[in-house]
Amino acid sequence: MAIERTFSILKPDATRRNLTGAVNAKIEQAGLRIVAQKRVHMTRGQAETFYSVHSARPFFGELVESMISGPVVVQVLEGENAIKTYRDVMGATNPANADAGTIRKEFAVSVGENTVHGSDAPETAAIEIAQWFAGNEIVG
Ligand code: CMP
Repeated sequence: MAIERTFSILKPDATRRNLTGAVNAKIEQAGLRIVAQKRVHMTRGQAETFYSVHSARPFFGELVESMISGPVVVQVLEGENAIKTYRDVMGATNPANADAGTIRKEFAVSVGENTVHGSDAPETAAIEIAQWFAGNEIVG
C-alpha cells in the first residue's frame, strides 16, 4: 500500500477545550505520523480561501466564523492510505452519524463544530498542504 500524506485541522472547538493532545493520540493510534504541525489563528481571508469549494453553501458564513473563532492546529499526516485512514478515524462529518470510537463521535459538538478536518482526495490534500506548509516544514 502506498505511503500518502493528508492535511488535517484541529478546529477551534478542539483548541478551546484543550483537546489537541487527545485528538493527536487518536491520530497516532490509527498509525498515522504527524510530520508537520503548527498552531495558527486563521484570518478571515485564509478561511474563505481554504473553504472556497463551499462558498455557495448556506452554511459558508457560519463555517468561516467558526474557523476564525479561535486558534487551530494545522497538520500534515503521513501513513499508508493516509487520506482514507484519517477519514475513517475522524468519523462522519455530522457527529450524530459518526461511528463509536471515532474522533467526531467522542469529541465533536455539532456538524459545524466537528473538531477536525481532513482532506478528501489526493488532489485536495496537495492543495491544502501547500496553503499552510513550505516543503522544508514537513519532516517525514
Ligand atoms: P469539514 O470536513 O471541515 O468540511 C467542511 C465543513 O463544513 C465540515 O467539516 C463541517 O464542519 C461544515 N459543515 C458541513 N455541513 C454543515 C452544515 N449543514 N451546517 C454547518 N456546517 C456544516
